[in-house]
Amino acid sequence: MQFRQTLLLIVTTMSIASLGVAGCTPQTQTNAQSTQPVTSVQTPQREPDVVYVPTPQEVVDKMLALAKVTKDDVIYDLGSGDGRIPITAAQKFGTKGVGIDINPERIQEANANAQKAGVSDRVKFLNQDLFSSNFSEATVVTLYLLPELNVKLRPQLFKQLKPGTRVVSHDFDMGDWKPDQVVQTQDGSNIYLWTIPEKVPANLR
Ligand SMILES: C[S@@+](CC[C@H](N)C(=O)[O-])C[C@H]1O[C@@H](n2cnc3c(N)ncnc32)[C@H](O)[C@@H]1O
Repeated sequence: MQFRQTLLLIVTTMSIASLGVAGCTPQTQTNAQSTQPVTSVQTPQREPDVVYVPTPQEVVDKMLALAKVTKDDVIYDLGSGDGRIPITAAQKFGTKGVGIDINPERIQEANANAQKAGVSDRVKFLNQDLFSSNFSEATVVTLYLLPELNVKLRPQLFKQLKPGTRVVSHDFDMGDWKPDQVVQTQDGSNIYLWTIPEKVPANLR
């Protein structure tokens, strides 16, 4: 709960600040699509949709447990920050993982963390906009975004992911798509689990 409040507070503050700078001019939607390694700290090609707030390690562990992640999974963290979710899955279970983040600074940090953790052979980090990325090979997708971003992403999850793929979200739900399970962690965070169905329910099409 504390992190949820922190994230919402930071996002609100940033929105007000950016309104002051940019007025009501729509932001250019140029996508960061490079898969090249980031060698020096650059600025994102467009503003991230949500600021970086890391998931506490205890919550990461519970997310992986709720999704029953194994070495046979391919885990994608959409908006991967410092890479802790795929890195933890690789360390604990030997899972292959991909992190996608629009901010090149986060990608650089995640690559350094993967190297330190000795899992660079199993995880990679792509400097891309998650809304135009291909994550169809995932068997597990993790999210820590915002409620409206989860809902915006929902059609892409249904379009790209195979039936049976698990989707886990820290703190935020998916609107009308009801979760299979919700668990609460000791810090008051909620973790939501969904499974991609064979057929997209009529109310979610
Ligand atoms: C709240 S943080 C979560 C980080 C990580 N998943 C975790 O749980 O520790 C959200 C991340 O999403 C990234 N992000 C925001 N908008 C994005 C976009 N359109 N495409 C890719 N990444 C994005 C931010 O740069 C930030 O690192």
